[in-house]
Amino acid sequence: MPQISYDPDAGLWLLDTPRTSYALRVDDSGAPCHVAWGGRLSLAEAREVAARPRDTEGSSSFEGRPPVGEELPVDGGARYGVPSLQVRFADGTRALEWAPAGHHITETPDGAAQLDLSFHDRHYPLDITLHYRVHADTDVIERWTSLRNTGAEAITLLRGDSAAWTVPPRDDYRLSHVTGQWSAESQLRRETLPFGETVLTSRRGITSHHANPWVMLDDGNATEEHGQVWSAALAWSGSWRITAQRTPDGRAGFTGGAGHDSTTLLLAPGETHTTPCFAGLCSEGGFAAASRAWHAYTLDHVLPHPREIRPVLYNSWEATGFDVDEQGQMALAAKAAALGTELYVMDDGWFGARRDDRAGLGDWTPSPERFPQGLSPLIDEVHRLGMRFGLWVEPEMVNADSDLYRAHPDWVLHFPHRTRTEMRNQLVLNFARGDVAEWAYKWLSALVADHGIDFLKWDMNRPFSEAGHPAHPDGDDRLWTTYVHHLYDVIDRLRADHPHLRIEACSGGGGRVDLGILARTDQVWTSDNTDAADRIGIQHGYSQLYPARTMAAWVTDVPNQLTARSVPLRFRFHVAMAGVLAIGGDLTRWSDDELAEAAGFVATYKQVRHLVQHGVQHRLRGPVDDGPTVVQYTAEDRSETLVLAWQRAPHGGRPRLPVRLAGLEPGAVYRDAGSGTVHHATVLTDHGLPLGLPPGDWASTAIHLVRR
Ligand code: GLA
Repeated sequence: MPQISYDPDAGLWLLDTPRTSYALRVDDSGAPCHVAWGGRLSLAEAREVAARPRDTEGSSSFEGRPPVGEELPVDGGARYGVPSLQVRFADGTRALEWAPAGHHITETPDGAAQLDLSFHDRHYPLDITLHYRVHADTDVIERWTSLRNTGAEAITLLRGDSAAWTVPPRDDYRLSHVTGQWSAESQLRRETLPFGETVLTSRRGITSHHANPWVMLDDGNATEEHGQVWSAALAWSGSWRITAQRTPDGRAGFTGGAGHDSTTLLLAPGETHTTPCFAGLCSEGGFAAASRAWHAYTLDHVLPHPREIRPVLYNSWEATGFDVDEQGQMALAAKAAALGTELYVMDDGWFGARRDDRAGLGDWTPSPERFPQGLSPLIDEVHRLGMRFGLWVEPEMVNADSDLYRAHPDWVLHFPHRTRTEMRNQLVLNFARGDVAEWAYKWLSALVADHGIDFLKWDMNRPFSEAGHPAHPDGDDRLWTTYVHHLYDVIDRLRADHPHLRIEACSGGGGRVDLGILARTDQVWTSDNTDAADRIGIQHGYSQLYPARTMAAWVTDVPNQLTARSVPLRFRFHVAMAGVLAIGGDLTRWSDDELAEAAGFVATYKQVRHLVQHGVQHRLRGPVDDGPTVVQYTAEDRSETLVLAWQRAPHGGRPRLPVRLAGLEPGAVYRDAGSGTVHHATVLTDHGLPLGLPPGDWASTAIHLVRR
């Protein structure tokens, strides 16, 4: 059972997860302070840590409070680190002073334990509550903060992070995170944490391709399989900021929340602002164990339908571009169905005057030239072929050349007297406006209901610019937050209205991947880069936090549209089988042999996808290694395992060693479902599995082992 205990003598709270403990207290000044975050501690042990004075040798009148070590450092008193909470009261006062106001420990209906720790400012009308939640089945600790203006005048929230996390003192610290750009998302970086402040952020209004809101810290010695790792992930799909700090006194921690630098929020009298969740995890067992814990947490506590098997999908985008019409789509649908595809998705180009990316966005009625009788004939045909039907939409966007924009030029983000910057010839609709969000909800709900649509690919193809909401009484910056809340609300209402509807989150590929969007969608489009060779690195970075169950992966044509690289169909399938397999090539141009080979891979995937989508992942060899990259997925009960291996360009004369498998049942015997070869688990674990990859470039294999 998750447990939260309070020791009134020491003024200490102890939160227990299955394998870790987290302790905090309120210090003499009234501020919530961190005590411990690591392996399990008894109350007595936590008290010992709490009683230990921080090494103050060399302290002087210049030091102030340590910048790392509070649960939510404020701007106030002798504090000079990164403020997690920074406010300006109506009279201009900024220094916040904590006054404790009690706590509640409750059990939530789903069996979690929650601590709400309340404070107010010593003088000004602001209530602050720190929330902590622990579950029985994960070491992830959920944290968020709520702020309530109890006065009669507005309070300016200059910074309102969800939580600050402190890691224990270590000789060294290393930071893991991802960077990227369009078509090159999720590039894993692992580097020494520099002294000072390292800011990971998106100022784009979306999560971004360029950084992703999670961090991992270790002492520099963790490996894939060994060592302690402290990590955190923010459940927010707009602009965000995580600041990792390494202080001159040798400490480290990170604070994170919604919004980027200089965006503020006016907290009206009586208003409560609740931050998104910035969940944290301390884990043993290296980066792999940290990833697995996040995967399990996402499945058990984030996704709406985690245990559902995601279907094999076909998407028409790379085959047709904007050239969609009834006949062409029906032809592709027939080919896709013959391959074993279960969900057919028509991408961009089906509506209004959309013939390229210059016109039509915003006019969400089927194009009469391309679909003379509407979408129904195509959808009926797709259903007749035994597939579900999905449709691409981009509800937050408008082309200037559209009926919608001509009717409502004020609906887009804009500032007076500023150029409305177009990117991909489109402008961002201001979802912070209630009427815009309502308009989107209405047409989407009607579209889904009228056509029996099973799946939406919800796209968002540019970041914000000129993010203004002229004449809005609360000022412009609120839109950064309200936009995201309204986006969530539209998706939540759609799902409630249409329980069968499933949604893929997309933002030009992986521009909006985070635990916030995953709480209300079923999978994400990982990247517009479908080159299998590039995908190995993208998928590796993606897997650091997010489970394969959410990672859509298409097999497309060669030469690849983006990279011009050609790799064999087999290799492309094996790479895409590492996530939610989909096909995105122009099937009308595939030869009979290719179609037959593809149908075989689809059938194979269906036999192993429960392992990929719901199993436990082991990254046996990462993509930076010389030799094959190898990923293994094992059933929770260890009854089956799948090994996927991809070798790009092996060097001559290099050893070709068997790969040691993980997570098998000791003493058991496993049979290779393809070759029939029988292996002892001990041999596979200690001596390895020979991959049998042929020499030459682009060798790949999928080995399915079943316990006898
Ligand atoms: C984005 C998506 C693509 C495709 C196009 C359509 O780039 O990532 O998959 O849907 O939009 O315009």
